[in-house]
Amino acid sequence: MPLSSVEFTFVDGETAGQHLDELAALYTEVYAEPPYEWGDEHLALFKKRFAAQRQRDGFTLIEAREQGQLVAFGFGITLLPNAPWWQNLTTPVDEALTKEYPNRTFALVELLVRRPWRRQHVAETIHNLLLKDRIEERATLTVLPAAEAARAVYRKWGWQKVAEKRNPLPGSPVFEVMVKIVEKGHL
Ligand SMILES: CC(C)(COP(=O)(O)OP(=O)(O)OC[C@H]1O[C@@H](n2cnc3c(N)ncnc32)[C@H](O)[C@@H]1OP(=O)(O)O)[C@@H](O)C(=O)NCCC(=O)NCCS
Repeated sequence: MPLSSVEFTFVDGETAGQHLDELAALYTEVYAEPPYEWGDEHLALFKKRFAAQRQRDGFTLIEAREQGQLVAFGFGITLLPNAPWWQNLTTPVDEALTKEYPNRTFALVELLVRRPWRRQHVAETIHNLLLKDRIEERATLTVLPAAEAARAVYRKWGWQKVAEKRNPLPGSPVFEVMVKIVEKGHL
């Protein structure tokens, strides 16, 4: 269990927009660390995508705060049937895996915890709240192979690697694509 002083809150898309500066500050801090070492370019992309994602169907954001301070967050969206999620794969996959239809897949877009709050099951609590009572059949995410903590948590929580993909941008790394079947009411 995380420290009882950490509070977890569902945040809607409108409020998420009002909290953008805090979310962006946490994003900047965490992704400055190896293996990411991301800077302004990634932050700008995060903000641009988030502006659209927070208005999408199925958008769910959980914030974790201690004494009002944002210490972690995670969010996701429902994939649309024409979502580009399954494009740019670098490994062969069964066609059935990549077929999207309404409410088939929840995409876990971000999950990050400030370093001093790690290994206290904060991410686990956010993850379980995000996947609890979803209407989608399954969830998907991408993770960098070099992100050891992230790979460890996802393996522990029953996610399975199903493919690899590389976004068509110069210097873009290969990401692992993972999937988890959403077990209704059993998280
Ligand atoms: C990945 C991340 C979100 C995990 O957050 P966290 O709150 O520390 O994770 P939890 O405490 O819920 O971990 C749950 C379990 O996962 C495993 N785990 C977590 N971090 C681990 C690590 N660094 N190495 C090995 N196992 C780890 C452990 O089994 C842990 O349980 P335990 O502490 O009782 O042994 C955090 O390390 C982070 O923010 N990393 C940088 C951002 C990132 O990579 N996000 C994912 C993007 S896809």
